[in-house]
Amino acid sequence: MLTGASGGLGAHMAHAFARQKVKLALVAHPGIDLEGLRKSIAAEGVQAAALTSDLRDPVQRRELLKDVRSQLGPIDILINNAGVEFNAAYHDLSEGQIGEVLSVNLEAPMILSRLVLPEMIERRQGHIVNISSLAGKCGPAFQEPYAATKAGLVAFTQSLRATYRGSGVSASVVVPAFVEAGIYARLKAKTGCAAPRLLTGSSPAQVARAVLRSIEDDVPEIIVSRYPLRPVLALAALSPRLGDWITTRIGVHEFFRRAVEAEKRDRS
Ligand SMILES: NC(=O)c1ccc[n+]([C@@H]2O[C@H](COP(=O)([O-])OP(=O)(O)OC[C@H]3O[C@@H](n4cnc5c(N)ncnc54)[C@H](OP(=O)(O)O)[C@@H]3O)[C@@H](O)[C@H]2O)c1
Repeated sequence: MLTGASGGLGAHMAHAFARQKVKLALVAHPGIDLEGLRKSIAAEGVQAAALTSDLRDPVQRRELLKDVRSQLGPIDILINNAGVEFNAAYHDLSEGQIGEVLSVNLEAPMILSRLVLPEMIERRQGHIVNISSLAGKCGPAFQEPYAATKAGLVAFTQSLRATYRGSGVSASVVVPAFVEAGIYARLKAKTGCAAPRLLTGSSPAQVARAVLRSIEDDVPEIIVSRYPLRPVLALAALSPRLGDWITTRIGVHEFFRRAVEAEKRDRS
């Protein structure tokens, strides 16, 4: 089951799974483009179901799983990919917006995982992939709820792996930098602001390949970026003050500041 299937990254993941002949439950909300995606997957000879479900709603989440099982059978793979973000100074966000980010990006992945685990454990097979973000590793300015949920997914995945080790069930987290699709591509088009070059240039196809590899090789965490970022993140872990300095020097905070200002100008 793939959430956020209609998005910039989700559609690439869907086609990557279809090439592996994996049956697909494609989930989105409101899911305007979902049926078109289902048809293109079906044209590749792979069974797929298009299911709209507002993942903020606990009732819809449960109904969704019932529908997936009745249409396609047991769920072996869950990709928690749906995600939302709002770019604004934290105090300018409404409680509703903060709640939406927490709910779609973190609560839904945690609850969906909780709901698919019993049958995965019983069948002794299953893999959960959570799609995080570099924002969860470095906390950019103007990204408080988003960064918090994406960091939460990293810790959630680590715990899941430890709990179910040896059971046939595992979990991975994929951490993309800025990808030239979906959320980032729309922000860039809308504001004319580009993120620092060091962190851009990843393609949605690379993210899709990382998701497949995380399952095939049971990899704990994959960072998807044009340049290797682990050494920088290791330095930041050794010294948070240095990490803060590096993130500032790279221009991450400044990029979001400019994007937020551009969006504000656009609205006024
Ligand atoms: N693009 C990037 O640069 C980037 C970088 C790092 C991490 N990520 C992460 O990668 C994932 C996919 O990002 P993307 O760029 O593909 O985003 P996107 O194009 O905005 O797609 C978001 C997806 O989530 C679905 N969705 C939103 N709210 C929902 C809700 N309440 N219930 C159910 N589904 C909902 C959307 O459905 P509709 O299409 O129907 O609205 C869409 O399928 C996200 O978790 C994002 O945080 C993206």
